[in-house]
Amino acid sequence: VPRKTAVLITGCSSGIGEAAALRLLKCGFLVFATVRRAEDAEALKVKAGKNNQLHVLLLDVTRDDQIKAAVEAVNQRLSQDGRKLLALINNAGYAEFSAVEILPLPSLRKQFEANVYAPVNVTRAFLPLLRSAASPSHSARLLFVSSIGGRIAFSGNAAYSSSKFAVEAIADAFRMELKRWNIHVSILEPGAIGTSFNTRTANQLSANWDTVTASDVEPAVLQSYERSKNALLRSIDRVPQENVSICVDAIEHALLDSHPQARMLAGWTSFILYLVLAVPSEVSDRLAGAMYA
Ligand SMILES: NC(=O)c1ccc[n+]([C@@H]2O[C@H](COP(=O)([O-])OP(=O)(O)OC[C@H]3O[C@@H](n4cnc5c(N)ncnc54)[C@H](OP(=O)(O)O)[C@@H]3O)[C@@H](O)[C@H]2O)c1
Repeated sequence: VPRKTAVLITGCSSGIGEAAALRLLKCGFLVFATVRRAEDAEALKVKAGKNNQLHVLLLDVTRDDQIKAAVEAVNQRLSQDGRKLLALINNAGYAEFSAVEILPLPSLRKQFEANVYAPVNVTRAFLPLLRSAASPSHSARLLFVSSIGGRIAFSGNAAYSSSKFAVEAIADAFRMELKRWNIHVSILEPGAIGTSFNTRTANQLSANWDTVTASDVEPAVLQSYERSKNALLRSIDRVPQENVSICVDAIEHALLDSHPQARMLAGWTSFILYLVLAVPSEVSDRLAGAMYA
């Protein structure tokens, strides 16, 4: 780890963010880990064995006031310790699943707030710190945790996939724009990983379904969507999930390697869906459809 450096990771209450925070502490970084709730902050500190190199901040990434407060807190701690913010990991995110015809528009907007506008906002706020950390010997690092869903969509995941497609386009543009300041941008594209994500996605799918009423669409149409929703719930449950450590390995590579990859697949589901991209849509629709729903 380059000397006297720090990293900030969003969405560390569980899953990939939590595992990355704990691993990067072990690597020797000062870690700023963000969560939304005070109880999650306490739980993370305990998991880290009260390590004083862990600084947990409360941050809902969709809130401007909290982003501003986080930048101030990070600035203060960095100048106290004489450290630089070498890396920002935009990890916080979630999925809104529903067939497009009955997807509540507020859910689509909320999805883009959390998965697209928030990482843009967070990145802009921390860019001055990243810029000042970049050195000729080690570029600063900006990482977006996207998904293989950021490359390929399937039935029921339009909101989530479109948000990840969008964030990948933004990350690609950032990579070209920030190169001149020696800030390297990577995108992580996990497949199915064993975190709270699947349960939360299933809950979100059910919650969206519960808002749909018979007055929205004809009863026969609704029945047909109900069958798809139930099939999707079953397949969310069925797809084997891989260990979160494969994502953390990729994150470590993105932060520490002298030539980090621009895009990193994580897990075999990610790899298979990536291969599916190579065939014409008429075929890939059937292949992706066979995996989900
Ligand atoms: N697991 C997978 O299969 C998978 C696959 C592809 C991509 N991903 C991506 O990986 C990232 C991490 O997901 P995960 O698998 O670790 O799932 P997870 O265990 O559900 O963790 C998601 C994290 O994001 C946080 N979050 C969500 N909305 C937020 C907001 N508005 N402000 C702040 N934090 C917010 C959650 O905080 P709360 O606890 O406060 O809600 C939680 O800490 C996400 O971007 C997800 O899209 C996951």
